[in-house]
Amino acid sequence: MQLFLDTTDTAVLAELAQTGLLDGVTTNPTLIARSGRPMLEVIKEICDIVEGPVSAEVAATDTATMIKEGEKLAAIATNVVVKVPLTWDGLKAVRIFSESGIMTNVTLCFSAMQAMMAAKAGATFISPFVGRLDDHGADGMDLIQEIRAIYDTYDFDTEILAASIRTVVHVKEAALFGADCATIPPQVFRDLVKHPLTDRGLEAFLSDWAKTGQSIL
Ligand code: E4P
Repeated sequence: MQLFLDTTDTAVLAELAQTGLLDGVTTNPTLIARSGRPMLEVIKEICDIVEGPVSAEVAATDTATMIKEGEKLAAIATNVVVKVPLTWDGLKAVRIFSESGIMTNVTLCFSAMQAMMAAKAGATFISPFVGRLDDHGADGMDLIQEIRAIYDTYDFDTEILAASIRTVVHVKEAALFGADCATIPPQVFRDLVKHPLTDRGLEAFLSDWAKTGQSIL
């Protein structure tokens, strides 16, 4: 399963990229606003840190302007993925990007039919927003399972990018239900390898080892 970081914090990205376990990055207008930096500069810096797909979202809502913005974003680096909202204008733009070989991530997906239409338009990634569905009283993981079933039945090669991930359990369930990737906040990424029994077990082993007075080196 590919793990992407959902952040524009380049210092955190540089730190977590050193794990060698980071496959890509997603950003959105809210994260860009939070960074307080010019978008093009941030995206370029992220692409210099991470080799995998880096999603950069258009701000326009009409197809023609989305195309212009997307082409400008895609020119920043070969690993830029143009992120487009799940609207009719967005899907028309995805079709055009797909014909010209530009990768796309269709965002703000909240239903299986939206995901099917994005795949038919030729999206590289579809981003179902799991956490926001949970917030809304639904079960976001039901959507991941539905999209997986539809994509497998019809051999769509659009990758399911579980988004709006809030917890380690979200990542586990996305993996269990066949999402191709998950985009997660930095703290959840860090939490993926944490377990209190690991900490407690290591503490006991180190204490017992010290009593032996031995050294391996
Ligand atoms: C993904 O592409 C989105 O940027 C992100 O996962 C949204 O997460 P949120 O619902 O926590 O804002």
